[in-house]
Amino acid sequence: MKQNENVLEINNISVSFDGFYALTDVKANVKRNSIHFFLGPNGAGKTTLLDIICAKTKPTQGTVMYYPKNREPMRLTGMKEYKIVNEGVGRKFQVPSVFINLTVEENMILSLKGHKGILDSIFHKPGKEELDEIDRILEKVGLLDEKETRAGALADGKKQWLEIAMQIVQKPEIIMLDEPAAGMGKPETFRTGEILKEIKKDCTIIVIEHDMDFVKQIADKVTVLHEGKVLMEGDITSVLADETVQAVYLGRGGE
Ligand SMILES: Nc1ncnc2c1ncn2[C@@H]1O[C@H](COP(=O)(O)OP(=O)(O)OP(=O)(O)O)[C@@H](O)[C@H]1O
Ligand SMILES: [Mg+2]
Repeated sequence: MKQNENVLEINNISVSFDGFYALTDVKANVKRNSIHFFLGPNGAGKTTLLDIICAKTKPTQGTVMYYPKNREPMRLTGMKEYKIVNEGVGRKFQVPSVFINLTVEENMILSLKGHKGILDSIFHKPGKEELDEIDRILEKVGLLDEKETRAGALADGKKQWLEIAMQIVQKPEIIMLDEPAAGMGKPETFRTGEILKEIKKDCTIIVIEHDMDFVKQIADKVTVLHEGKVLMEGDITSVLADETVQAVYLGRGGE
């Protein structure tokens, strides 16, 4: 099968909430195994766009096409949310969702694909292969030494990395992260970037983030949204050098 180099194609998406257009005619292509940022000031429509991709919100117009590896393309618009997750498009929300009373490893076991929840995890013990895979991923995010630690006892940064690990164990083709470095200090933010660079070897990463150093560290491509429209798209250096982009940010107090 001929492989499309894009894993996602966002085609002319518009969304109106009672007549207010949160997105207007948004087009963007996301390349496989890349880190693609959506930037823009508050209210630009970034989170709404992720809501469209995972079908939490229905667009007024437009389609989102998904090109999974060695499988038939799928139209995500119109699909059920859980089905999209099953097909390999995962999303980490802004609010942490780890089980604080379970260990790091137990949280990972619960996230394994095919596990239907706590009861199923009690009756279906993971095999050696699955446990090895969990170790491999925990190593990638720097949490292997904390396997037995109660998730609630982890520092905030490590909780975020555990959540990323819980996404990765489901072997998604795309993961979407809404402000993964929010509340992190500079060293943790940098480390998050290094983790994501490691992870993009296995999947495509779509990120929303306000921290420009973080964007510069890892972005392959950025799409700038402003008032629900695509303002500019390109590599981070040319986007930041653009006067219109600067005006949009400076107009809101800058970064
Ligand atoms: N369910 C909704 N009903 C009505 N308006 C909405 C809804 N969801 C979002 N909006 C509006 O759409 C616009 C875009 O919101 P969105 O949350 O996508 O922005 P954002 O770029 O993620 O901003 P931020 O950087 O603050 O997170 C905002 O004006 C918001 O108030
Ligand atoms: Mg948002």
